[in-house]
Amino acid sequence: MTGRAGPDPGRRRVAVVVGPQSYPFLDITQAAEGVAGLIWLADLSDERLGQERSLLARAGQVIDLAGITTTEAAGELRPWRPDGILTFVDELMPFTADLARALSLRFYPAGLAAALADKVDQRTALRAAGVPGPGFRLIPSAADPGDVERLVEGLPFPAVLKPRVGTGGRFTTFCEDVAAVSEALRDRSERREEGGMILEEMLGSRRSGPAGDGGEAISDLVSVDTLVIDSRCRHAGFTRHLGLAWPFRRTGSFLITEPDHPDLAVAATAVEEAVAALGVDRGWLNVDVILTAEGPRIIEVNGRVGGGVPRMLHMLGRPNPLSAQMQLALGGDPDIGGGPAAPGLAYMLLVQPPPEARSVVSISGVDRVIALPGVVQAAINKHAGDSVDWRDGSPGFVVGVYGTASSLDQLLEIRRALDEHVAVEYRS
Ligand SMILES: Nc1ncnc2c1ncn2[C@@H]1O[C@H](COP(=O)(O)OP(=O)(O)OP(=O)(O)O)[C@@H](O)[C@H]1O
Ligand SMILES: [Mg+2]
Repeated sequence: MTGRAGPDPGRRRVAVVVGPQSYPFLDITQAAEGVAGLIWLADLSDERLGQERSLLARAGQVIDLAGITTTEAAGELRPWRPDGILTFVDELMPFTADLARALSLRFYPAGLAAALADKVDQRTALRAAGVPGPGFRLIPSAADPGDVERLVEGLPFPAVLKPRVGTGGRFTTFCEDVAAVSEALRDRSERREEGGMILEEMLGSRRSGPAGDGGEAISDLVSVDTLVIDSRCRHAGFTRHLGLAWPFRRTGSFLITEPDHPDLAVAATAVEEAVAALGVDRGWLNVDVILTAEGPRIIEVNGRVGGGVPRMLHMLGRPNPLSAQMQLALGGDPDIGGGPAAPGLAYMLLVQPPPEARSVVSISGVDRVIALPGVVQAAINKHAGDSVDWRDGSPGFVVGVYGTASSLDQLLEIRRALDEHVAVEYRS
């Protein structure tokens, strides 16, 4: 433990377990203002934390998880007498649940935390409760490409291959047939997933255009952010997505606070069924649903706020969902800003590198995008010289543009202007 003083007895404290796929630490710090003091837990030996490590060094109360056991981590955390605990990182849910139990803090129970981190556990739990979903198979990490035929027997194709524990669509691949699965595993062989992969029957239509073109069709994927208290859902936002960049990367998403279409109300009902099936009593969930001809189907329940959602809710004047998750951890009943729907929509548009790109050579025209009506921010995520890889999934985008629009047409106009103004040169 580093830090100057001991705990201030008058102030409530939340322990936050962070990792490389967390929200930016500055956003977490801001969300805690006026809510709680933070005690950070992070593996400071993890190089992937990058510059975030220097923020932690200034943050004060940090427990370094490098090389210590869960019991030791609990022992270090206990003297700080936290009033709550949370994580925004899917793969850290089980560890956070173990710490919570050791310190008698509320969090997802161990079985649920496992299902929120592990896509095979989650599919198994949903299926056992009778929630309809795609067929799936576990591809163990020890499987050779030659074993695939036997492992996937009976699974309908095309299919989606993804790490059993993963986020942001990292290494999520489209597999037309069995041979494509073997090929993907070969491509993956130098970075074998410890927990293995899951292969799922692909639901819905692909509707994806060439990388980065925004493929103006709206995808049939809907993400619902919902606050669960006493097993009851309050839906804070519905995020729709523009056509994906190959294979499953996001090129644009927009959030509205109320369903504006009966399909969204149907998706909300499917979310409520999944929440009951998994036995979630309390928490903030981000649930991906695909609207298929047979009805809505759950792609995944994530146990935290969706990527980009805090910023989109903020642009619509809604309360900060990261703060809401902290209040939940403290036993509170956070406000999600009910009442009439916030006017218009908030969006996030992403320029994704094409699949063959390996690095960025140059970027121009971003300043012209900032001048467009409704644009709040246009930020470069990968600079000239940075490497890029489609396998990094949606978070591997090059430029992100955030703003508000009064209608979908207006948003699509901004998307077209973005493609026209921003030029990125890549090396393959
Ligand atoms: N069975 C499926 N059928 C159709 N599309 C799928 C399927 N599984 C995944 N996808 C697509 O791949 C994306 C990523 O999948 P998934 O949400 O399971 O992975 P993730 O890495 O946990 O991503 P996230 O951070 O968005 O939760 C989905 O948003 C969806 O577009
Ligand atoms: Mg996920």
